[in-house]
Amino acid sequence: MCGIVGYIGHREAYPIIINGLKRLEYRGYDSAGIALYDGSKIQLAKTKGKVVDLEAEVAKGITTKGSLGIGHTRWATHGVPNDVNSHPHYSNSGDLVIIHNGIIENYSSIKKELIKRGYVFHSDTDTEVLVNLIEEIKKKEGVKLGKAVQIALNQVVGAYAIAVFDQKKPNEIVVAKLGSPLAIGVGEDEFFIASDASPFIEFTNNAIYLEDEQMAVIRLGREIRIRKIKSDKRIKPFVQELKLNIEQIEKGGYDHFMLKEIYEQPAVIKDTFRGRLLADQGIIKLGGLEEFIPKFVNADRIIIVACGTSWHAGLVAEYTFEDWARIPVEVEYASEFRYRNPVITEKDVVIAISQSGETADTLAAIKLAKEKGAFVYGICNVVGSTISRETHSGTYTHAGPEIGVASTKAFTTQITVLTMIALKLAHVKGTISRSDYMMHLRELDTIPTHVAKALESNDEIKEIAKVFKDSPNFLYLGRGYNFPVALEGALKLKEISYIHAEGYPAAEMKHGPIALIDEQMPVVVVAINSNHYGKVVSNIEEIKARKGKIIAVVTQGDTAVRELADYVMEVPKTPETLTPLVTTIPLQLLSYHIAVMLNRNVDQPRNLAKSVTVE
Ligand code: F6R
Repeated sequence: MCGIVGYIGHREAYPIIINGLKRLEYRGYDSAGIALYDGSKIQLAKTKGKVVDLEAEVAKGITTKGSLGIGHTRWATHGVPNDVNSHPHYSNSGDLVIIHNGIIENYSSIKKELIKRGYVFHSDTDTEVLVNLIEEIKKKEGVKLGKAVQIALNQVVGAYAIAVFDQKKPNEIVVAKLGSPLAIGVGEDEFFIASDASPFIEFTNNAIYLEDEQMAVIRLGREIRIRKIKSDKRIKPFVQELKLNIEQIEKGGYDHFMLKEIYEQPAVIKDTFRGRLLADQGIIKLGGLEEFIPKFVNADRIIIVACGTSWHAGLVAEYTFEDWARIPVEVEYASEFRYRNPVITEKDVVIAISQSGETADTLAAIKLAKEKGAFVYGICNVVGSTISRETHSGTYTHAGPEIGVASTKAFTTQITVLTMIALKLAHVKGTISRSDYMMHLRELDTIPTHVAKALESNDEIKEIAKVFKDSPNFLYLGRGYNFPVALEGALKLKEISYIHAEGYPAAEMKHGPIALIDEQMPVVVVAINSNHYGKVVSNIEEIKARKGKIIAVVTQGDTAVRELADYVMEVPKTPETLTPLVTTIPLQLLSYHIAVMLNRNVDQPRNLAKSVTVE
């Protein structure tokens, strides 16, 4: 879970790499480093901290000249985040230098062998072992760098996206991929390497995404040579044209990416609908789904696998799929599912949900489901991501790049896609009446307007945040469709503000959490007008009786909860089935403002990374 960047061409490599690393900081930000070839030797700087700290380190001493270089921003796996463990890593001769995103699982046995042969290690990382293994093979076998990388990678177990160069041959960079993403930007006599396309988007729209177990030798003045790491088979490069633009990956006047992404939700939900939801004509048409509808409607059950926020979106879908389409649904943490020998048959459909499309546990769950013969459908945001390629078919959420580490627009667009699928299946199966189907289509179509309306409460929510920002604990309650929203609200608060928060189904409160309630405890209750309204009002009464402080999410015009609650956050009225798309909004804003008031790093909370490519 690190970010890697590289450049070889005719421009100064330093600014390209530094800017690229800043765009990739969402992937990890506990240390950063850069290695440049200055025309005669490698200039290397690295440090614990963020890319700005790296810039300060560079300013202290190295020259930034040169048009070949690699850089790295790290999320530590082996070895604590410190200067020494930061990438790039040199080989013992000082000729080779490497950056690596991933884990070499058998590094310790390789390290022992290399130590026996006289190699000395300066860091605790698996990566330093890999670069020395490459060096040893290069020397011993008398082969070129590309071949040495290939032989070395056939000896390692683990995951990697690597870039390595040799100062004795400074016209090429060798890259390889297994389990971690790697994109190559192709310009005019220049090449860019990165974990995603964002570092090079202003220079070229042409990119090659390496597949797992592929490597490439990128040499100036020659076309890229791609081959399979295991079989040596040459692969013809497939150059894709990217649709991404630079505005999509900049903050656009907002203080944080998270806030920008919260405010983008009306627009991106519309993007998710585009060409797929034709409300007036009563049509939902999802390209990836059409041909596989029989698989879904004849399935014994749907198993949803995901992690974190994506898992919460899956929980919402459990309600819609069962309610409308009458298909049994199980929602599983991918990390548990993959290790517990689950019962899966060819009659099951597995839906994998992932913003990044790179989450290691979700990927492993997909592989397991495929081995057992299930049909696997992916719901991803990142186009071309590993999960989108590993699944049999799927639907993109079209939320655009989500840079803030805490997921916001990814969540609402995932629910949007899942809701469209559930409605479509119910319609095909005939488990929903025509009038109900048409009503939901029209209501779904108005969701972007309702989300925009919910965002208008921002100033009031900010005031509420002021009151509660110093509370050490929060409880979030919701029922039915809004139970997953309570979980998501609590997750948002803890990950960006570091305040402990728990989400609970409101009725479960009596079975334990009620003991926590006293005058210090803020309880955020989703109390919108729904089937459960009366019951939630009773839950609120129970909290009030114990002097808890109530912050309620209510439907516009509500009076009963308003009288009981200490604070309310209003959302427009929608059918209950669609409420998660609007009730989530005030909870995102509440966490955001609390985190800002506490001076937290909202876009890059401590210990987290945007895409969790390790288990
Ligand atoms: C929370 C968050 C994480 C991710 C989780 C899964 O805000 O972002 O919980 O939802 O790591 O990531 P994806 O969806 O990329 O598989």
